[in-house]
This record gives sequence, C-alpha cells and structure tokens, in this order.
Amino acid sequence: MTSTEATTRTAYDSVATLYAELVDGWVAAAPLERAFLAAFAELVDGPVADVGCGPGHLTGHLHSLGVDVHGVDVSPEMVALARAAFPHLSFAVGSMTALDVADGSLGGILAHFSTIHTPPAELAAVLAEFHRALAPGGHLNLGFFGSETGSEPTPFDHRVTTAYHWPADTLADLVCRNGFVEVARLARKPGERERFLQSQLLVVKPQLS
Ligand SMILES: C[S@@+](CC[C@H](N)C(=O)[O-])C[C@H]1O[C@@H](n2cnc3c(N)ncnc32)[C@H](O)[C@@H]1O
Repeated sequence: MTSTEATTRTAYDSVATLYAELVDGWVAAAPLERAFLAAFAELVDGPVADVGCGPGHLTGHLHSLGVDVHGVDVSPEMVALARAAFPHLSFAVGSMTALDVADGSLGGILAHFSTIHTPPAELAAVLAEFHRALAPGGHLNLGFFGSETGSEPTPFDHRVTTAYHWPADTLADLVCRNGFVEVARLARKPGERERFLQSQLLVVKPQLS
C-alpha cells in the first residue's frame, strides 16, 4: 500500500458513517450521472469492479441494472458499511494499485471519485493496474472533479483529505497514453453545494488487433 493510500484509508475510516449518510439518495437525485452510469452498465460485458466503492451505493445501483459487480475499497469501515447495506453483494478491502483479480478478467471498472486523492504522479500506476485487470474491450469509467480553467491538475482542500481537480483534456491525455481509447465524457456544472465540474470519463481498453 502506498503512503497516500494509508492516509486515505485512515481519513475515510473516520468519516465512513457520515459519508454513507451524505450519499444516501445520490443516485436518485443525479439524473445525468445516472444516465451515464446506465450507458456504462449497458456497454460492459463480464464482471465489473466498483473500485473505491465507499458504502456501496453505486455497486448496488449497478447490480440493480443487471451488472455482475463487486466492490473494493481501501477503507475497512467503508467495506463494513457496504456489506451491511448490500449483504447479497461481494465487497473486499483492497487497493486500486493491486486489484485481487487475474489479468484481463474484468469487463469493466467503475472508479467513481476514488482516484481523486491520488497524486497526479501516481495515477499512471493506477491506470496500469486497471489496464492489466480489464479484458480487451473492457470499459473504465473514471469519475472526477473537473477544472473549468487551466491545463494542470490542481490540489484542493477536500473535506476528507487532499484531492485534485483535473482539466478533462489533461486527464484524458494521461489515460489514453496509458493504453485506453476515449469513448465519452460527462461534465455537469457544479450544483449549489459543489465547487467543481462533476465529471465522468469513459474509456475502453482496445481489442487485440
Ligand atoms: C470520494 S469516495 C467515493 C466513493 C464512491 N465511489 C462514490 O462515488 O461515492 C472515495 C473512496 O475511494 C476509496 N479509495 C481511495 N483511494 C483508494 C485506493 N487507492 N484503493 C481503494 N480505494 C480507495 C476511499 O476509501 C473512499 O471510499
């Protein structure tokens, strides 16, 4: 586990219950994100990992859409909450830098606002692990805070622990340099209590040629 992951784990362990309360009802209140997630659910073929699943609300949502999905999170408290809320689904404590799956075994990865705390210099290693785990043709959906100006990722004082907002082009360039091909983006303007674009980047690991 990296030192960033150790810090992130401690930080999320201490706010897990509060976080679960905050995101309760999020899916129902987010029609644009829900539509983008529905497209992801339709495109994936095979098992999906919800990486950085938190209290499991999106794992549960993808399952309700018929996806064969399991959750992974570095925070044991989050995993305990996810297991309690969705006892019929599988959740494990684990790191996005070392997923416990065979090479090429996943049809999809959802990393919804779970790479936001990864320092930019460490993100390529995470993307390499996602690429290893996905089958050719597998989709990766990255949820992130989008910047409206500038060209560099920028740290900010996220309430849990330092996070980064990214210009979508800069993030997409990095992801594509690590073996993926872009499919689509969502960039919803910040709502009342939000500071940044609420973004998702959908990419695919190309089929073998
Ligand atoms: C902002 S929350 C997002 C939770 C959920 N995906 C959502 O959209 O509400 C970030 C989650 O990612 C997890 N996380 C952060 N870094 C991680 C890592 N390196 N490996 C696994 N989980 C991680 C945190 O513990 C936390 O539960």
